[in-house]
Amino acid sequence: MSRVRTQVGIIGAGPAGLLLSHLLHLEGIDSVVLEARSRVYVERRVRAGVVEQPTADLLREVGLADRMDREGLPHHGFSLRFDREDHRIPITELTGSTITVYGQQEIVKDLIAARLAAGGDIRFEVSGVAVHDVETDRPRITFDGGELECDVVAGCDGFHGVSRGAIPDTVLRTFEQVYPFAWLGLLAKAEPSHEELIYTSHERGFALHSMRSPEVTRLYLQVEPDERIEDWSDDRIWDELHLRLETDDGFELQEGPVIEKGITPMRGFVAEPMRHGRLFLAGDAAHIVPPTGAKGMNLAIADVLVLSRALSALLNRGETDLVESYSDTCLRRVWRAQGFSNHMTTMLHRTPGAEDYHHRLQLSQLRYTATSSAAATSLAENYVGLPF
Ligand code: FAD
Ligand code: DHB
Repeated sequence: MSRVRTQVGIIGAGPAGLLLSHLLHLEGIDSVVLEARSRVYVERRVRAGVVEQPTADLLREVGLADRMDREGLPHHGFSLRFDREDHRIPITELTGSTITVYGQQEIVKDLIAARLAAGGDIRFEVSGVAVHDVETDRPRITFDGGELECDVVAGCDGFHGVSRGAIPDTVLRTFEQVYPFAWLGLLAKAEPSHEELIYTSHERGFALHSMRSPEVTRLYLQVEPDERIEDWSDDRIWDELHLRLETDDGFELQEGPVIEKGITPMRGFVAEPMRHGRLFLAGDAAHIVPPTGAKGMNLAIADVLVLSRALSALLNRGETDLVESYSDTCLRRVWRAQGFSNHMTTMLHRTPGAEDYHHRLQLSQLRYTATSSAAATSLAENYVGLPF
C-alpha cells in the first residue's frame, strides 16, 4: 500500500477539485486529486455551458482562459420566448457584463492540461475512497491500494460522492426540493438556429436552445421525471423541439446528427455547514441547483476561490478566520443562486397538474420581465453573475 503526504487531499476531478488544485498551486500549496473515473470520461462528460462574467474573469486572472478566449462564444443577450414570440434581455446593455458559452468539459480539459504541465498529481480511476479523522489536524483519505495523509481534505466529489457522508448526521442539515420534471439534453452537429440562447415557455413544457460552437447546437426539453432516454428517438426529440420552439416570425430549427443525449433530474439541494473540522465541501458535493439559469458550475468555481483563500491563510500564515467563515461566505451566494434558479425554473416550466391559475401567473411574470427594465435588470444581474 502506498502512503503519501500532501497538504490538501482533493476528492473529485470536476471543475471544483481541479480548479482548487490549480489555485492552491499558485499559493504554493501542494495537493493530490483523487478521481473515480478515467481522464477520457471526465474530459468527455457533457454538462454545463454558460460561464458567468466573474468566473471568466477569474479564469483569465489565473492563466486558464487562453482557449476559452479563442473558442468561447461571448453573448450579450438572450431571449425569453413565449406566446410564439421572442423578447430579448440585453444583458450587457443592462449590466455591463457578458457571459461566455464554453463547455464545462473544455474547462475540465484546460484544467487537467494546466495541472499536468505544472507537475500536478491527479490520480484517475481510484476506487474505494473514504475520509477519516476530519476532527483532528491530520485527516486521512484511504483508497484501494493507498492512503493520503493531509492537513485538510476538500470534498469536491459531486452530489453522489462520499465526502458529505463524513460529516456526522448530528452536525449536517440538508434542504431539498425535487422538481416534478427532468431535462432531456441533446447535443447535435447542427449550426445554431439563432445567435443567442432561447429560453422558451410553451404549453407542452420548457425548451432551451443553446450551443457549443458555430457547428454544434445544445438543446434541452422539459420531460417527465421518470422518463427513459430509450423512449426518446431522435425523431421524437426533434418533433417536440420544433413544436415548442416554433414562432410566428418564421424561426427555423436546424437539425443535424445527434452526438449525445441524456436525461438529468432536477433538484435544489443544500448541505449546511460546508465545513466540518478539516473537511471542506465545495461545488455539487454541497449543493445542487436546478439547471435553468446555468449556475451549477459557476457556484462550484466560486466556492473553490473562497476555499483557496481560506486554505492559504491557514496553511501559509496559520490564520483561521477565513476557514471559520468559509461555510457562511459560500452559503450566502449558494442561497441567492438557489433563489434565482428556482425563479427561472418556476417561471419557465409547466408543472404537471398545476391549476390554470399558476399558468396565468407564469405568463404575467414573463410579460413583466420582458417589458419592465427593473425586472429585466434584476434577471440580467443574476444571470451574468454577482461579483465574487
Ligand atoms: P462534478 O463535476 O460532479 O465533479 C465531481 C467529480 O468527483 C466527478 O468527476 C466524479 O467522477 C468524482 N467523484 C465522485 N465520487 C467520487 C469518489 N467517491 N471518489 C473519487 N471521485 C469521485 N449545470 C449547468 O449550469 N448547466 C447544465 O446544463 C448542467 N447539466 C448537468 C448535467 C448533469 C448530468 C449533471 C450531474 C450536472 C449538470 N450541471 C449543469 C451542473 C454542473 O455540471 C455541476 O454543477 C458541476 O459539474 C459541479 O462541479 P463539481 O466539480 O462540484 O462536481
Ligand atoms: C446551458 C445550460 C443551462 O442550464 C442554461 O441555463 C443555459 C445553457 C448549456 O448547457 O448550454
